[in-house]
Amino acid sequence: MNGRFNAAEKALEFVKSGMVVGLGSGKTSEIFIKLLGKKVKENKMRVVCVPTSVRTEKVAKKAGLVVRKLNEVKEVDLAVDGADQVDMKLNLIKGYGGALLREKIVDYGAKRFVVIVDESKLRGELSGWIPLEVSPFAVEQVRRELKKLGMEEKTRMKKERKFITDNWNVIIDVRFVKINNPKSVDVFLRSIPGVIETGIFSEKVSMVIVGSKTGVKLLS
Ligand code: A5P
Repeated sequence: MNGRFNAAEKALEFVKSGMVVGLGSGKTSEIFIKLLGKKVKENKMRVVCVPTSVRTEKVAKKAGLVVRKLNEVKEVDLAVDGADQVDMKLNLIKGYGGALLREKIVDYGAKRFVVIVDESKLRGELSGWIPLEVSPFAVEQVRRELKKLGMEEKTRMKKERKFITDNWNVIIDVRFVKINNPKSVDVFLRSIPGVIETGIFSEKVSMVIVGSKTGVKLLS
């Protein structure tokens, strides 16, 4: 099996009957969701799921899982989500799939947040493109601000049009050669009016499961 599958399969061990489980977005999360659907059915478990994207909701329903909105549950016990980059201090970059806002809300609010990745996502230091979820009302002003600061930025497109998130916002990707202090970069970018959320996840990670062809490694 590949690294993504092995990481997703390992995360299943943390799901217990009676839990509310936050479901991440992306390919690795989708593998987890399908495996979870099977496990819940086979073991007749009581599990309620909170998806972090419209796409994840569809995949979860197809897998036979019970799906609720975040406002309909008391608390999320466990969130399981993928990531685009992971550094050695368990800081993440997420949002290359555009689901960062709901992911951060669900992942940060959960009692336990487990990240599932393959080895290709590991970095000595985070770098490159950071996704920002931005209000469409403010998009050109935010771009000007970033340019004034000398930052390379681009509005994410889908075919010829701006990519629109599940929350009806747009994504601006901003490039950093090096991200020495992920938390302060996150705080700084969120201080620009119109920036709703960033793809830097610098807190709350309980554990990262790194899958390879031969097995898994746990980072915590
Ligand atoms: C979605 O917006 C992202 O944050 C995903 O969690 C991330 O891109 C990981 O996706 P893959 O599992 O598809 O690599």
